[in-house]
Amino acid sequence: MNRQAEIINPFARLRSLLGDAKPGIEPAIDLTIGAPKHALPDFVKEVLAEKHALYGNYPPIRAIPELGEAIASWLERRYGLAGIEPDRMILPLLGSREGLFSAVFTARERKGGQGGVALIPNPFYQVYAAGAQAAGLEPVYLDAPRESGFLPDLDRLSQNRALLERTSVMFLCSPSNPQGAVASTDYLKKVIALARQYDFMLFSDECYSEIYYGEKPPGILQVAHEMSGDFSHVLAFNSLSKRSNLPGLRSGFVSGDPDFIEKYARFRNVSCPQLPLPVQHASAKVWANEQHVIESRVQYHEKMELAETLLKPHIFFEKPAGGFFLWINMNELGGGERVVERIWKGCGVKMLPGAYLAHEELGAQREANPAFDDVRIALVHDLETTREALKRIVSVF
Ligand SMILES: Cc1ncc(COP(=O)(O)O)c(C=O)c1O
Repeated sequence: MNRQAEIINPFARLRSLLGDAKPGIEPAIDLTIGAPKHALPDFVKEVLAEKHALYGNYPPIRAIPELGEAIASWLERRYGLAGIEPDRMILPLLGSREGLFSAVFTARERKGGQGGVALIPNPFYQVYAAGAQAAGLEPVYLDAPRESGFLPDLDRLSQNRALLERTSVMFLCSPSNPQGAVASTDYLKKVIALARQYDFMLFSDECYSEIYYGEKPPGILQVAHEMSGDFSHVLAFNSLSKRSNLPGLRSGFVSGDPDFIEKYARFRNVSCPQLPLPVQHASAKVWANEQHVIESRVQYHEKMELAETLLKPHIFFEKPAGGFFLWINMNELGGGERVVERIWKGCGVKMLPGAYLAHEELGAQREANPAFDDVRIALVHDLETTREALKRIVSVF
């Protein structure tokens, strides 16, 4: 494994792949980026306007009481978690991404400094690897193929004691980006037990937690609490980006292990950005409101059903348990990159080769990259745009 390998933004790689090739049909439809296009909760602008004067103050690193309490109430409503103490167990983030990056430094220090390992599911959201690399941890990629339910194989991992002993942090994503897999309560119990046995932090990326098609995905905090009545070794990262269609607000939080939160708050206080006060006030209102989340979920259901009706007769894919991506194996059509180029040139729909979301040992070859054959399709537009895009894709197949 090459620790110096540059982590390249998948969208930059896609730009190089497509070069100046023109879309086959105009206007082009972009199904690459995971930015929801559903309506924003309209009350956000009113709160931002009302609290405008607070842009004149530096915000605190901890949540203001309104936000801390709104997040704690949401955790209670969503996961049945009573007694989350906002001051000890919650920190606001400017979206989950910067938290997933910077918390790695605290996880490294907690386990005794340099030389540790970060376990990363493969394929994965790129910031996990960037955080590991910046903090000087060795990223070790755990393949998450169809055969192990698109999650890392924990039985296999638990046999590797030497690796687990060196581990400072493990990332988990459920519902997962890109495959939409949901980790079961049993799976979460096993992974929490490993974190506690080998004394590493578990960072559970739950930013897709509110977009699901069957049972509500269980959360790491809920399962940890069920196991032992506390949150030791676990952190949940979440945000308003996917839940509330507000990726531009940059508002998220981390919650969990109070000892870790204490250390991480000290680190953030000298190194990380604070969430602006008007945004904290607006976020408090958004976490307290469920109606817009329910409405948004109905739209994702409609789009998933549409995808099953239109695409399934032509190409097999498994409906994801959560999230808003289709993850489709294109082996028979030559692999992800080939299909992405063909669809772009044939009908002006832009999709992402799965390979760009995976760690590859030897270059973008089938044998080296576990997601070589896959494409990721983000169902983020409204129903009609999605219908048009899916019909175009089918016309090329
Ligand atoms: C798996 C995953 N985690 C985290 C994020 C970061 O989202 P945000 O920083 O907007 O909360 C994303 C965004 O696409 C994501 O897909």
